[in-house]
Amino acid sequence: TKDWNGIDKVVLRNPRGASARVSLYGGQVTSWRNEQGEELLFTSSKAIFKPPKAVRGGIPICFPQFGNCGSLEQHGFARNKIWTIDENSPPLSPKDSQGKSFIDLLFKPSEEDLKCWPHSFEFRLRVSLAADGSLTLISRVRNVNGKPFSFSFAYHTYLSVSDISEVRIEGLETLDYLDNLCGKERFTEQGDAITFESEVDRVYLSAPNVVAVLDHERKRTYVIKKEGLPDVVVWNPWEKKSKAMADFGDDEYKQMLCVDGAAIAKPVTLKPGEEWTGRLELSAVPSTFCSENLDLQGRG
Ligand code: BG6
Repeated sequence: TKDWNGIDKVVLRNPRGASARVSLYGGQVTSWRNEQGEELLFTSSKAIFKPPKAVRGGIPICFPQFGNCGSLEQHGFARNKIWTIDENSPPLSPKDSQGKSFIDLLFKPSEEDLKCWPHSFEFRLRVSLAADGSLTLISRVRNVNGKPFSFSFAYHTYLSVSDISEVRIEGLETLDYLDNLCGKERFTEQGDAITFESEVDRVYLSAPNVVAVLDHERKRTYVIKKEGLPDVVVWNPWEKKSKAMADFGDDEYKQMLCVDGAAIAKPVTLKPGEEWTGRLELSAVPSTFCSENLDLQGRG
């Protein structure tokens, strides 16, 4: 089916009624709903559904650069390009296919992209929805160039939350982080869990492979599992920055939190012919279930 501006989108559904929507613009997941039909990803009411910018919400893919500390546009160009459906995707393991509804997308750089970033690659993205409603994104980047190249990456995941003051993140305590608000200075997290009362823009380094975002008011916990993605970005623009963003409502910072599985501090380097895989699995479970059953220890 067509999305805004005639750009194709793909809708995945599972037998229990959960769904996900993926746009070929940026390979961006723009919706993920549970079996009750509740939207789990935030999208701004002011989002602009029109190229050349990524839609404010869902899961934009930041590649081949996260942020603005390289030569490329902020968060790289992949999120602003049209991807294609990959009919001949090289197989993934059976656990990534069996019992799942999925779509394979492909992004290859155009002549224009190669002028900004002279490295030929194939970027394959599988988005899948499991029978239990969990959403998995698997990115595979292959170097089809004659020379090595390096990149940074993030699944810029906008989670929908009831009220940011009721939310906490577990799994990042005691870690070192780079604070983007202080010239990328390095700090060590002191809190027992991360809570929010002002703007946050951090890259937590070498984070565990399971992180939980607890929404106390909604009694929902997002469980984020990652592989091949050492870092976790945490971003909330808070009041002042929200007002400065044209495609974001002034008060919407209360209803969202970005928690991204990422590879930033140590860029990924691929030799010719090599492939990198970055995997993210998101699930949303009732908080009561979670606190008793989630083992956040021994991760990492
Ligand atoms: C975050 C960055 O991850 O993304 C922030 O750390 C940035 O600095 C935010 O403001 C949103 O970026 P953009 O380009 O989508 O407005």
